[in-house]
Amino acid sequence: MARSALPTILIDGKAVVQASDMFCRRQLGFGTGTRWSKRGNPNLSRPLVETIKAAIGMGFTHLDCADDYNTEAEVGTAVEECGLPRSELFVTTKVRHELYDIPKALGASLSKMKLDYVDLYLIHAPFKFKTPEEISTAWAAMEGLKAKGLARSIGVSNFRPVDLEPIFKTCKEMPAVNRIEFHPYRQRPILMAVMKQHHITPTSYGALVPLRKKPGGPVDDYVRELAGKYQVAEPEILMRWQMDKGIGVITTSSSEDRLKNYLRVCDFKLTDEEQAEMNRLGAKLLVKGFWPVEGADDPE
Ligand SMILES: NC(=O)c1ccc[n+]([C@@H]2O[C@H](COP(=O)([O-])OP(=O)(O)OC[C@H]3O[C@@H](n4cnc5c(N)ncnc54)[C@H](OP(=O)(O)O)[C@@H]3O)[C@@H](O)[C@H]2O)c1
Repeated sequence: MARSALPTILIDGKAVVQASDMFCRRQLGFGTGTRWSKRGNPNLSRPLVETIKAAIGMGFTHLDCADDYNTEAEVGTAVEECGLPRSELFVTTKVRHELYDIPKALGASLSKMKLDYVDLYLIHAPFKFKTPEEISTAWAAMEGLKAKGLARSIGVSNFRPVDLEPIFKTCKEMPAVNRIEFHPYRQRPILMAVMKQHHITPTSYGALVPLRKKPGGPVDDYVRELAGKYQVAEPEILMRWQMDKGIGVITTSSSEDRLKNYLRVCDFKLTDEEQAEMNRLGAKLLVKGFWPVEGADDPE
């Protein structure tokens, strides 16, 4: 399939290729969790800093981190060193542990990143909350941070309908985003319908679960066939399938070649029939790839 030439920009005086479409690039984020997570290691990871800078150079302007991953210093260092103005980058971080003092948690995160604000701040997961009131209180704290300009947007992650309910009852402002595990084997129709009703944008992680955790599963042959048709690799098909549903995808890789390939998602679209076939094949299997913690066993 023919692709249009990609525009270039200058970083540190060097021309670097950008993906073709700004909106598409913002829909595809570079994650610093999973294979990069460095819990308990206080040392700055130079390989991660360099990979983030390389990702930015390729056109990933959306960077995802979390206090839990202990990668905020690396993200901040890459932002400082990459040569792009802060305003061109979209930085997300999350609070997982200090859920009862969220302003303190964001203060610590900003200080590690050496930033004045984040573009998106998320409550990482609802599983530690003991009552609906605790969720409402935490969300009110998030609203306060947005009002102060410390977080441009606020949202949640891994919230199911039951966890969103207290927010719906007491919020001044809806979460902009719910970042959830989503892939053909976890399509979450009930949660997606609730989010649509309340105008909460779905963004995802775990897009490549079918390749990584269930090789040989029901979508594999079809994903391979579509990869052949669009002349891309399988990950790009799995990501495009989500992005065509309006879902922003956070992914990652330790390989610069793979990261470059991922950006090919911006160069094609699946047809409605291909979307529907992937939905159908994926629905044959349920795989929950993350959060094996108490209270998180509901597949929705
Ligand atoms: N909010 C949450 O609770 C939550 C949970 C999990 C993750 N996240 C965020 O989302 C980001 C991405 O999560 P994820 O790692 O689950 O993303 P993913 O997009 O599902 O998987 C990325 C991984 O897939 C591997 N991969 C790429 N192509 C492959 C192939 N053809 N076959 C097999 N493996 C392949 C890559 O390995 P290589 O490194 O070897 O290329 C990479 O480590 C994380 O870094 C984190 O920022 C958030």
